[in-house]
Amino acid sequence: MLAISPSHYAPLPEERLPAGSVDPSSLPEGVECPLLLQRTEVPSGKNTVTLKNRVIVAPMCMYSSVDGFPTPFHLVHHGQFALHGAGSIIVEASAVTPAGRISPRDLGMYTEEHVAAHASLVQTVKSVSSEVYFGIQLAHAGRKASTWPPYDRTPHDTPYMPVNVGGWDKTVVSPSAIPYGEGHLVPHELSVSEIRDIEDDFVRAADRAYRAGYDFVQIHSAHGYLLSSFSSPLANQRTDMYGGSLENRTRLLLNIVRRIREQFPDKGLWVRLNGTDGLPEDDERESWDYESTTALASLLDAAGVDMLDISSGGTVGRLAFSSKPGYQVPGAVAAKMSDLKHMKVSAVGCLQGGTEENPEAPGLFAEKVLQEGNADFISLARVFLRQPTWVEDAARALLGRHAAGALQYSYTFPPLG
Ligand SMILES: Cc1cc2nc3c(=O)[nH]c(=O)nc-3n(C[C@H](O)[C@H](O)[C@H](O)COP(=O)(O)O)c2cc1C
Repeated sequence: MLAISPSHYAPLPEERLPAGSVDPSSLPEGVECPLLLQRTEVPSGKNTVTLKNRVIVAPMCMYSSVDGFPTPFHLVHHGQFALHGAGSIIVEASAVTPAGRISPRDLGMYTEEHVAAHASLVQTVKSVSSEVYFGIQLAHAGRKASTWPPYDRTPHDTPYMPVNVGGWDKTVVSPSAIPYGEGHLVPHELSVSEIRDIEDDFVRAADRAYRAGYDFVQIHSAHGYLLSSFSSPLANQRTDMYGGSLENRTRLLLNIVRRIREQFPDKGLWVRLNGTDGLPEDDERESWDYESTTALASLLDAAGVDMLDISSGGTVGRLAFSSKPGYQVPGAVAAKMSDLKHMKVSAVGCLQGGTEENPEAPGLFAEKVLQEGNADFISLARVFLRQPTWVEDAARALLGRHAAGALQYSYTFPPLG
């Protein structure tokens, strides 16, 4: 390993506007700062923090870990988003227990040794950009655990990874013994005491994440992983206190967030939910839908969750969503319908582009979602992998001027117009 000086030159935050922000007083008279680029307050339990803009980099599994540890890849990967001014960044789904990893290459927060490793990632990312609000997603893959990383294109006999090649297909768990799809493994139905152990795993992982220096944790209850499969009647057919009514199906998630909030009253606590399972209209099975999202949003608000991100899908194998711009915004609208007192809502899903009049201009569609009051924040994932400068590009498209940039880069930006 190269010995890189940890005391590299980092511009002092108080000397400069943080990268990705706009000083509204510098704008010509009559020009409003777009909502997307405005400094905005979010609750952090009893506290309030100010984010330098409303852009969140959504969590993205990179399948680049060994034994759950962050690597140099993670430093560079998150560092580039920070350098280019993302207001908030969420580190990928990180398992709260080894059996809760999607693949053996997943990131984790399941041992004490992970704390120091994540602390290096947090310190590095925060040292290259001031005021970046940095969090981590905590996850359990449930019945979708023990698979190959998606970039592994070697032919496999099964969609899951068997134990003889490094998987843990015999210990994959779920609320009910129902496979994710045809050909998938039959998961072990969790007992009540095993469910309580997983609740403890989430709370312990949150404790480790805060000790590593993360500003917030996001609890992953979307995409058919464990917590969202508890919520969905398609995957949860239990008849005990964890099945049946919406209150029972969301009991595990709510217990986790209530315990984290009680133990860490001033730390950031975010949740990601499915807005809908996405069954076709003619499928009459009971499933997770927008009404369920509205009902759960008010329970999460009362439990002290600070930000709710609404995604969708992944609960059952064969449904595919048409990923057109804003396809998941109705889920954010459903969450906001519940008269929230504390919690903010972010939208995600193909929000990077322009509007009908100006389809190529980054930021215009996202600004429209905010202007229409459909969400308070904008989460983006894939675009950041090919265009890490998205915040800077959106500022130029929305305002015709540069947002503040990293000291080392921004003096080279050409004058505009
Ligand atoms: C490579 C990749 C990895 C992802 N990993 C995660 C993850 O770890 N946790 C999660 O909640 N969503 C994950 N997602 C979903 C994204 O966070 C996001 O919701 C989705 O890509 C839609 O947003 P976009 O249209 O801006 O890409 C992943 C998406 C991609 C493309």
